[in-house]
Amino acid sequence: MLNHIVGGRLFAVILKFKSTLAFSGPPNDGTTSTRVPSFPRTTTIPDSLHLSLPVRNNDGENESATCIFDIVVSCIVMKNINDPVVGGIPVKRLKLSNLPAKHDFKMTFPRTPGSIDPNNPPWPAYRGYHTYSFANATMGHRLPTILGKAIDDVVYTLNEQSDEDLIVDLVQCIERMDSLKSELQEHAKLRPIIDDGEADVALWNKAIVKYFRGKDFMNAPWLFAEAYKYRRLRECFSVSKYWSNYDVFFRQKCDTFSRSNEAVFELSGRFGEPFKHAENLSSSEKAESLRLMFLELTQVCLWGNSTDLSLLINMTEEQIKSLQSTGGEALAETEKNILGNHMSRLWEVVRDLNKDSVNTGGGRIDFVLDNAGFELYCDCVYADFLLQSGLASEIRFHGKRYPWFVSDVTRKDWAWLLNSMVYGQLFPKATEQEKEGLKRLGLRWKQYEKEGKWIYEQHPFWCTGYTFWEMLNEAPDLFLHLSKSDLVIFKGDLNHRKLTYDCAAPYSTSFDVSIGPMASNAGAPKVCSLRTIKSDVVVGLGSNPQEGDAIGENLDKEEPGWKISGKYAVVLLSEGRPGEQVNLV
Ligand code: F6P
Ligand code: MG
Repeated sequence: MLNHIVGGRLFAVILKFKSTLAFSGPPNDGTTSTRVPSFPRTTTIPDSLHLSLPVRNNDGENESATCIFDIVVSCIVMKNINDPVVGGIPVKRLKLSNLPAKHDFKMTFPRTPGSIDPNNPPWPAYRGYHTYSFANATMGHRLPTILGKAIDDVVYTLNEQSDEDLIVDLVQCIERMDSLKSELQEHAKLRPIIDDGEADVALWNKAIVKYFRGKDFMNAPWLFAEAYKYRRLRECFSVSKYWSNYDVFFRQKCDTFSRSNEAVFELSGRFGEPFKHAENLSSSEKAESLRLMFLELTQVCLWGNSTDLSLLINMTEEQIKSLQSTGGEALAETEKNILGNHMSRLWEVVRDLNKDSVNTGGGRIDFVLDNAGFELYCDCVYADFLLQSGLASEIRFHGKRYPWFVSDVTRKDWAWLLNSMVYGQLFPKATEQEKEGLKRLGLRWKQYEKEGKWIYEQHPFWCTGYTFWEMLNEAPDLFLHLSKSDLVIFKGDLNHRKLTYDCAAPYSTSFDVSIGPMASNAGAPKVCSLRTIKSDVVVGLGSNPQEGDAIGENLDKEEPGWKISGKYAVVLLSEGRPGEQVNLV
């Protein structure tokens, strides 16, 4: 029944990508994976630190000591009911006996909300100087490799030019990239962004001056330093005369989609025809088939994040084919790898959009996109289903304004995908029927755009180093805009890092607590994160703290590298506070 409705083979194709890649474990940016154990974090406060005095880390900061101190103070305040009162004011006395025993105390919110800022996340930040961490491997090895490959791409383009002005201008872009690469390798300080006319210059420079003055590529929080590198890469081109829109990753992004023919045609074959229920189904059977289809497509969309074919950039045609031609794993099997799973609740939310919607039938769903190519194609298939089934009436896609984290979607990638499906000749070996199916799908999607049912947007905030905890403050217009959505789906690893402040929160931390203001601000929309786990921050596991932490700690022991393999995933939902007036003060 399930296979009949959802088509097990397609899913197996997609999952086959995922599981194979999980073992080879490369990141989805074309660099070779460096397997490093993640640096250990402690979530249980040891006795010796109960009265923690400021302790400085390598960076000269007292971030950990301060946050532990905050907790200690709040525990004492809560427990000390017999404090003396002097002049009407209770005086807090530190009593060791009031402190919780080592074993039953877990940090639930180690830094008080008022002391959180981009350099001081709620839990300790990951930083590049943490030796043996993924942050260290990324900053020290992966990013220089990515830059090196990007330079190769520009050199390739350079060699195709004949006009002297264009050549000279492009050579200067390459020189700027070379300098950036040296700065990265020499751990240079983060300098302000040059005013290149981009909408985000002020946002960047405010963050650099306010939170990261004097910080360098290795001692700034990893998230900010990594994002900064992509902004600087942008600057290498944005200040040029002829090449300001050049995308050093565009060739890779196109290439990976063209090499994914089998999975592409599986999807277009099944979804090329408009969605309709099989005849003679009772209304409860229809409802059940809709639910099952929703669940499968949610997983297609989810695992599309790990199967983004930029992962396959170093694979031969033959290797990709063999990945695509074998199947076997079932939906239920893959669901086991979703370690924090709110999919059932997600279905209820989406199902009820139809009921709740006053005018049109179906609600507004926003996708904060991640990667171009195959992942974007999966997202669109999902969005198409949501629209055709009447669950949604409007879908907004949020992409990046310029090349970002290698494979993220820009407007050009969006247009390229839809136009290639209709007019392209990417798949010369495909049958006429396959080509027709893909074209029909592309035409339908372009029609949605014309009718305003699909809307592509690109707010500057998405290309900053800010986390989404700061969205209301730094991009209030965007927060307000999203607050009008019925559901905001964040795709992928980087979006998840930004939702959760990319810090060492305990595995069992609830999604609501991890995303802070994106759940607790008045007007916060319902938020769902569809993320295959490709970096250190992991939250939302288990139904209670013991269970959640045990799941993560077991994997730490049994499967080192599980947090960067893309083999595991989370589907997490926050109910937010929709409908309440956003407080813009
Ligand atoms: O460089 C590491 C990283 O930022 C991780 O978040 C992840 O490995 C990758 O880049 C981005 O993944 P995604 O495309 O899913 O956001
Ligand atoms: Mg990405």
